[in-house]
Amino acid sequence: MTRHSPDAAASIEARHAPLQELGRSANRVCMLAADNPAHCLKYRLPGAKLDANRIEWKAWQWLRQRVGADELQDRFARVIGPERTVHGEALRCAVIRDRDGGIARSLYVHLYDADFATPHSAAALCVAVADFERFLLQRKLPLFDLNAGNFVVVDEGDGPRLVCVDAKSLCVSKEILPLSRWIAPLGKRKLRRRAARLRARIGSALAPRAAST
Ligand SMILES: Nc1ncnc2c1ncn2[C@@H]1O[C@H](COP(=O)(O)OP(=O)(O)OP(=O)(O)O)[C@@H](O)[C@H]1O
Ligand SMILES: [Mg+2]
Repeated sequence: MTRHSPDAAASIEARHAPLQELGRSANRVCMLAADNPAHCLKYRLPGAKLDANRIEWKAWQWLRQRVGADELQDRFARVIGPERTVHGEALRCAVIRDRDGGIARSLYVHLYDADFATPHSAAALCVAVADFERFLLQRKLPLFDLNAGNFVVVDEGDGPRLVCVDAKSLCVSKEILPLSRWIAPLGKRKLRRRAARLRARIGSALAPRAAST
């Protein structure tokens, strides 16, 4: 994958100027695709340590071999594939939208963005985490990076549903010896721990709101 020049990020933003940026981190920026509002394009940012697009593409292919498209549909944003664009190499993915057509916001925004008031209670979001956790355990999927930025929240009318928009952790491990990937009970324990930690974060992020209502 091509490395962007130092001002590549500025170029990506300028050329996509009328378009929406969906999110970014130290590694990537995610923009709505100019040619298709159902798609987004993830670009590697200058100075990124990880080739996140390559890892996410590999993780998605692995996932698709293990789980059918029908089952994945409500749980993971579909990755369409890498492509060369005028702004550089990108990874094209399906955009997750709410029932009203709006772009689903990340769980991170629901918890921490002062300009956004989540319509969901901490309890309802925790139920959505538990539901996702059950799915991962049943399918034995080692998705350990359960952080709020890697999920978007879809409003189902009768409650929120989480969709994973970043499956990289299926393929990368921060452990030197990735024992939790090799030994099933360790993997299960780790998943349960990570899901509990995410629920605890939801509880503490939304606690001030609950106290003031
Ligand atoms: N398919 C998608 N649909 C809707 N929003 C998305 C989608 N993919 C990404 N986003 C938005 O972009 C943000 C960042 O996405 P993602 O986790 O894929 O990249 P990243 O975290 O910036 O990269 P990295 O994890 O490599 O640092 C998400 O929190 C979400 O708000
Ligand atoms: Mg991410």
